[in-house]
Amino acid sequence: MQSNLMRPVRLLVLGAGGRGSTYADYLLQHPEEGVVVGVAELDAARRQAFAERHQLNPGQVFADWRDALATPRFADAAVIATQDRMHVEPVEAAAALGYHLLLEKPMAPDEAGCRRIVAAAERHGVMLGVCHVLRYTAYTQALKRILEAGTIGEIVSVEHLEPVGYWHQAHSFVRGNWRNEQESSPMLLSKACHDLDWLRYVVGRRCERVSSFGHLKHFRREEQPAGASDRCVTCPPEVETACPYSAKRYYLGQLDAGHTGWPLNVLTPQPTRETVLGALEVGPYGRCVYACDNDVVDHQVVNFEFSGGVTASFTMTAFTRARGRETRIFGTRGELYGDSQLISVYDFLTGETTTLDTDVASDGSILSGHGGGDDGLMAAFLQAVQHNDPNLILSGPAETLESHLMVFAAEEARRTGGVSSLHPSS
Ligand SMILES: NC(=O)c1ccc[n+]([C@@H]2O[C@H](COP(=O)([O-])OP(=O)(O)OC[C@H]3O[C@@H](n4cnc5c(N)ncnc54)[C@H](O)[C@@H]3O)[C@@H](O)[C@H]2O)c1
Repeated sequence: MQSNLMRPVRLLVLGAGGRGSTYADYLLQHPEEGVVVGVAELDAARRQAFAERHQLNPGQVFADWRDALATPRFADAAVIATQDRMHVEPVEAAAALGYHLLLEKPMAPDEAGCRRIVAAAERHGVMLGVCHVLRYTAYTQALKRILEAGTIGEIVSVEHLEPVGYWHQAHSFVRGNWRNEQESSPMLLSKACHDLDWLRYVVGRRCERVSSFGHLKHFRREEQPAGASDRCVTCPPEVETACPYSAKRYYLGQLDAGHTGWPLNVLTPQPTRETVLGALEVGPYGRCVYACDNDVVDHQVVNFEFSGGVTASFTMTAFTRARGRETRIFGTRGELYGDSQLISVYDFLTGETTTLDTDVASDGSILSGHGGGDDGLMAAFLQAVQHNDPNLILSGPAETLESHLMVFAAEEARRTGGVSSLHPSS
């Protein structure tokens, strides 16, 4: 579809929670690139705060995405940042109205949903960018340039680690929104779909076969220390102070260090000592990590075979300090190691190691804007819409669908204990 825009891109935000607000607030810093002209958000307090920040008038503010999409198209693009299971319907409705789409990952929790999303974008001729933000970091782009220059020869094998971090696991995947597979999706989809997508991007080949193992080892009732209570604020001090996962220690510690953004603003919109303590007393984030309704894995490995026999292994584990992802890439002429900031390359011919500092200190999490990936994604998507050029989107429909299919195949392999093949036609 023709946009012919050289003015700021007009954006409609569907779901103004953590992610929708992050993308929208980018425009407050970059008004020449785009402007928010509408929002749909179920939560009244969030809706109002968002409308005030973006100076929206009542006619631009909706409680439900269905209401926003019941009116004729009034923006160039829609950001769809509702929860995982609420992506397909707004995508189909927004595409039918001719909105270009910036969609949060995962596209959908199953293959059928992902295919419906891709089909809707194709049918209505709109651009689709999926928020695989790691593709857009300066670090990833530098690493990709090194590989494409042939510096380490041909890639033969890869080892990739996602150190989720003990507190991030506890926050999001034990107490929080992504703790339960039925309510959201398996860990590999909700968190590590970034990594599978990144591996596909970096290796630059189709994945053909996968196997996987993974379990929930630690965050279970059986592991609860003797004498602990089911809420940190009522836990006996001798137990609470010895627990690395104490919600009291972590969230109040963050507050004492002067942080009020993510993850504290997930507990309460205006984090103060009083509101945070209130949330810990009654809300989900004050629960003992051994007494939650979580079932997603806390550690998992996946092995991949890409075309041409290239292999990769991936480890996701909760039991780390928070830090960036780490990768080793083994090539026919050299070896590369990256830690999300530094990239070292050892050359077999010269025996020399060169190190590049991409200068993006990042723990790879939301806190650091995913190492600059959030901003990079927004800049690329807005450019694509402005110039009507889908090639500026690094995470378009075809490759994103492929990397989601890798996730589904790996989950199937984990559940069956077998090896899953990805069909050449997929
Ligand atoms: N790219 C990333 O790295 C990354 C990181 C975290 C989350 N995510 C994904 O982003 C999405 C959103 O996550 P989040 O952390 O912002 O969650 P969130 O719960 O903070 O935001 C979702 C918002 O959608 C709103 N909503 C629900 N139903 C609605 C409706 N019918 N109409 C309008 N609004 C509605 C909710 O009220 C909520 O505010 C999820 O799919 C999640 O997996 C991506």
